[in-house]
Amino acid sequence: MKKIKLIQKSKKGIYWPSEELKKNAWINKNTIYKKAEKDPVKFWENLAAEGIIWDKKWTKTYHEKHPYFQWFIGGKLNASYNCLDRHLKDKKNKAAIIWEPESPEEKNRVLTYHDLYSEVNKLANVLKNLGVKKGEVVGIYLPMIPEGQIAMLACSRIGAIHCVVFSAFSAESLKYRLKETRTKILITADGYYRKGEILNLKAKADEAVKKTKVKKIIVVKRTGIKINWKKERDFWWHDLTEKADSYCRPKIMDSEDTLFILYTSGTTGKPKGIIHTTGGYLTQAYWTAKWDFNLHDDDVLWSTSDIGWITGHTYCCYGPLLNGATSLIYEGMFNYPQSDRWCEIIEKYGVTVFYTSPTAIRMFAKHGDNVKKFDFASLRILGSVGEPIDKEAWGWFFQNVGRKRCPLIDTWWQTETGGTLINSLPGIGPFIPTMAGRSFPGTRLTIFDDDGNVLPVNKEGNLVQLSPFAPGMLRGVYKNPKKYLETYWNKFGKGIYFTSDGAWKDRQGNFRITGRLDDIIKIAGHRISTAELEDAITRHPLVAECAVIPQSHEIKGSVPIALVVLKKAKPSLKLTREIVKQAETFIGPIARPEQVFFVEDLPKTRSGKIMRRILRNILADKPVGDISTLANPESVEKIKKIVSKS
Ligand code: PRX
Repeated sequence: MKKIKLIQKSKKGIYWPSEELKKNAWINKNTIYKKAEKDPVKFWENLAAEGIIWDKKWTKTYHEKHPYFQWFIGGKLNASYNCLDRHLKDKKNKAAIIWEPESPEEKNRVLTYHDLYSEVNKLANVLKNLGVKKGEVVGIYLPMIPEGQIAMLACSRIGAIHCVVFSAFSAESLKYRLKETRTKILITADGYYRKGEILNLKAKADEAVKKTKVKKIIVVKRTGIKINWKKERDFWWHDLTEKADSYCRPKIMDSEDTLFILYTSGTTGKPKGIIHTTGGYLTQAYWTAKWDFNLHDDDVLWSTSDIGWITGHTYCCYGPLLNGATSLIYEGMFNYPQSDRWCEIIEKYGVTVFYTSPTAIRMFAKHGDNVKKFDFASLRILGSVGEPIDKEAWGWFFQNVGRKRCPLIDTWWQTETGGTLINSLPGIGPFIPTMAGRSFPGTRLTIFDDDGNVLPVNKEGNLVQLSPFAPGMLRGVYKNPKKYLETYWNKFGKGIYFTSDGAWKDRQGNFRITGRLDDIIKIAGHRISTAELEDAITRHPLVAECAVIPQSHEIKGSVPIALVVLKKAKPSLKLTREIVKQAETFIGPIARPEQVFFVEDLPKTRSGKIMRRILRNILADKPVGDISTLANPESVEKIKKIVSKS
């Protein structure tokens, strides 16, 4: 598309789509919201019929029985067929995946829709030959290489459930997921590149599978490093796929059959397996990708998330592929080997949609002197996800990357929601710094006070979703219906999904997300629970107790700070290092505490509950508030002293 101005500014500093953008947009009339609101079930029914190819039409569109609901009941389809086979007629030679390796010296890979189709079919046959059956869980522990998407689609082709685990998660994290899902087959790689170094992923996988049900490991040769090999258990991906048939008949699945499980942090010490089903998830993935990013045939979408997170599932894999678009993935760090590597990638591939996180944007801005020299004329849409975007980051991104001509779409959603739920549509707007936009057509998000009353405009409260629930929403927590009920449905009762986020809404229905209301920290956009970290740290033999508190951070948004009470031991640098290591061992490097404070005691109520509010205030250098209910008020001054010395 030629370089055109895609937005215009109103007097109040609010941006709107230009006439050109409106003309080119799939959705450009405000009336869509009203129309969808009148009958959301009918609205989604029409979208499912238009966007997805079904082997058999559903008999009932929506059914809800608190706290469960279903979409397109009786409908039959296959996810990989929808992402691949449907495009073979007219998009066979179009790039489906462009992969950029970390090293600029190494050759990139481009997989056309036909290439991807045949790779997926071959791996699907391999999995079948290894005995994988419909409904079984296959573990995927891969870096950002096309084999990640191939593996996901191969699972869906044969009706297996994929459970992708972020490659930077520790062996312990992987083990937990493998054990809970009783996974028998794991797909991993020998290693991958991080800032020029090779990390041995297979060693972590070897460690993780001990004392699990994993019987076979398929290994992608990414680096060629020496790895441990168990003859009967380990197989090279290339050996198996080389001999496999290049067609595998897609398994016809029920709309409500599970497509994948993705683990995410909750408020307890253990992550929970979020269940997504087929028909509803694909419908939401298709339409949100198409409308949010105004995807057309000439688009190259770069969603910078790792496939180990929900954004990677929906907007690196299913969303763009369902739409027959080109999905760009990059193996390495944005700033390697030099800080403007990400700019080079946008320029090199003519990226049109750039979807990233506020943390990445803040990092770009910090080292952003060079940005101006790059040609970003290909860009049409900028997207942000994962954390609230501050005014500075919004302004910098909009001005320096979008060059004041691209709309910036702030998308709010969660692992649980499967696809975006709040954002401004490019052809409608408005694009207001720090405001995420409106509830997606056909969805009903609103703000409640703690008693379940709808709050008026501009009043901050609990962000909730009302029935009927969006089709891509979670259908349960794996093997834990109690957790499902307690986390999402108990706070406000029937027909109300609690998001655990705080927010307020303006008169026009645009939401401002203010952040999590529970003990989840967004560290550089990654979701980690303080309880999980506390659990990891207290496993150290010399730690008696610990509290992990989020503290705001200039680049990462927030970082964890650990306050640790030792058993009979003296604080030391060695112990600090060991405690940081605990987070790495049990979760992964992203969860490393930024600072560790050794304290004598933590402030507690008489019933023994740690008063995190007080600790948060101490760390933020704010007045601590009422401490009269504490069993040990003297602890407060002592902690203040230790913190102020740092
Ligand atoms: O707190 C919200 C924040 O990220 C949480 C969901 O995290 P996760 O399941 O890892 O999924 C992230 C990617 C979809 C939410 O509860 N969040 C997500 N998007 C935004 C956001 N906070 C503010 N603005 C957003 N656009």
